[in-house]
Amino acid sequence: MGDGPNFSMTPRLELRRVSKTYRNGGQPVEVLHEISLALEPGTVTALVGRSGCGKTTLLNLAGAMDFPTAGEVLIDGRATSALSESELTALRRRRVGFVFQFFQLLPTLTVLENVELPLLLAGSGARATEAARDRLRWVGLEEKAASMPYQLSGGQLQRVAIARALVHGPDVLLADEPTGNLDTASGDQVLGLLRESATRFGATVLMATHSAEAAAIAGARVHLRDGRVESVD
Ligand SMILES: Nc1ncnc2c1ncn2[C@@H]1O[C@H](COP(=O)(O)OP(=O)(O)O)[C@@H](O)[C@H]1O
Ligand SMILES: [Mg+2]
Repeated sequence: MGDGPNFSMTPRLELRRVSKTYRNGGQPVEVLHEISLALEPGTVTALVGRSGCGKTTLLNLAGAMDFPTAGEVLIDGRATSALSESELTALRRRRVGFVFQFFQLLPTLTVLENVELPLLLAGSGARATEAARDRLRWVGLEEKAASMPYQLSGGQLQRVAIARALVHGPDVLLADEPTGNLDTASGDQVLGLLRESATRFGATVLMATHSAEAAAIAGARVHLRDGRVESVD
């Protein structure tokens, strides 16, 4: 991605007056209220706000794991709610990467196999090993390829998780409290990699976080309060 102004008409990821109401038997609860955002390739945006304000809900909508009750989530101008099941599967497998607070590596697979997995699911098995090694080298953990997850530290596990999230070249990288379970030094490494995901790989990075340090690496911070955008800075 160049540094110049982006003249494309369509943002990579757009939320248009997105609301989300959960209805689980009891009273309906509106968790997000008319959120609008437009995010471009090669940018990092932090989603900030206290626990329960709707950050994870918003990430799930942005990754087409779940759908708004009102409004639209658009990826390259296409509303996720208008996609067929097979288009949704393709979108999730090819265009979206996820990083979680608790890493979510599969404990019975090696580090390398964990990183290969998204490529196998996306039907790119032939180049999976090479691409996975490449990403492990990028996060500085090529020598751990044959290790099992239990042999790694939290910071190393999260770097593997970032390698996995980026291995299939997703356009959108969603990170949910990615440093929430890490010490400062490991957290800083992880934040550096998330930035590089944007600057080097052109991903549109959206990161939910409690941490002011994490929020500070983003180009913009969206402050959520009671399901609404309180401010953007
Ligand atoms: N699947 C669900 N069904 C019902 N309520 C939910 C569900 N997921 C989250 N919530 C509620 O929605 C609110 C926002 O949750 P969440 O998006 O996880 O917030 P955050 O990630 O900012 O902590 C919370 O009150 C939570 O209890
Ligand atoms: Mg959350």
